[in-house]
Amino acid sequence: MDKINAAITGIGAYVPEDILTNEDISQLVDTNEEWIMTRVGIKERRILRGEGKGTSVMGIHAVKQLLEKTNVQPEEIEAIICATTTSDCHFPTTASIIAYQTGCKNAFTFDVQGACAGFLYGLETGANYIRSGRYTKVIVVAGDKMTSITDYTDRTTCPLFGDACGAVLLEPTTEEVGVIDTILRTDGSGLPYLHMKGGGSACPASHKTVDNHQHFVYQDGRYVFKYAVSYMADAAEEISKRNKLTNDNIAWFVPHQANYRIIDAIAKRLDIDQTKIMVNIQKYGNTGAGTIPMCLWEWEKQLKKGDNIILAAFGAGFTWGTIYLKWAYDGANA
Ligand code: UT7
Repeated sequence: MDKINAAITGIGAYVPEDILTNEDISQLVDTNEEWIMTRVGIKERRILRGEGKGTSVMGIHAVKQLLEKTNVQPEEIEAIICATTTSDCHFPTTASIIAYQTGCKNAFTFDVQGACAGFLYGLETGANYIRSGRYTKVIVVAGDKMTSITDYTDRTTCPLFGDACGAVLLEPTTEEVGVIDTILRTDGSGLPYLHMKGGGSACPASHKTVDNHQHFVYQDGRYVFKYAVSYMADAAEEISKRNKLTNDNIAWFVPHQANYRIIDAIAKRLDIDQTKIMVNIQKYGNTGAGTIPMCLWEWEKQLKKGDNIILAAFGAGFTWGTIYLKWAYDGANA
């Protein structure tokens, strides 16, 4: 029997309309355009406004667009995996809400919590369902309403985050395209440097946790920066070496968008041309698990069948990893 590969056969995405500019942020905390642009590279980010609107709202839009673009009926979807850190509620899963609202009534659903590396965790998981031979249509939807856990009194974190979601369809193929190779890692010693202190079972919500701003992202930026660069670059280097990928045969490098300086440092270490690196941090900021599918969505028209693409991400945990994709279709026809 021919080997089954898992190919991405379509992408949808959604960004909210409302924009939060650096000028807006500088009205809230002591910061300015120059600091945010030179230290992080973000010009503006999107914010999902409206009472009762959670991550699922963006996921529903992304999945609906994906189904329309690929001409797949919702009933054909067998599984929906949602990678998010900002689920609508502690339970049930955001994936179950997305499936219900998009009519994917034959899908089993679950959430994956890999923080900013969540899309890679979800993609590898979904790809394994396809490779098993038992499933033929799996959706991985990834993204975060990061603004819901951002402290707009903390200048060290509030310029960084935005809201967005992307979704990909995975289908089987016997061609040598799709998710070719993956490296995923975790280092739990990273917990103190990037986490949310309150609201979980270790520290349930109380007046005190609210007063102490414990329901927001806490980050030791400098520490996280160092590990983000070295772990992502190490993983991307390893996957490149074992698949004989160099600047000559890599079409695109798609890094998590947390800080332009992190992206630049990794690209320099890997010796990849600037023109091959997908960067949209200036428009959307760090959208958690949404950054990589958002890039693939924006660049879709330029992607060609057979393109070698390296994805790399790093997030809270620490979680990180890299995936080598061989693109499965000509994006210009999508
Ligand atoms: O996506 C998940 C993983 N997350 C990441 O990968 C993020 C990794 N970390 C980073 O991207 C960067 O560390 C930050 C963007 C968070 C911070 O940039 P930095 O260059 O590491 O700044 P810093 O924390 O070292 O602070 C430098 C200075 C400090 O002032 P002093 O102590 O040198 O006087 C800060 O108080 O910049 C100050 N500062 C600010 N100034 C103006 C911090 N935030 C701001 C601000 N505006 N918003």
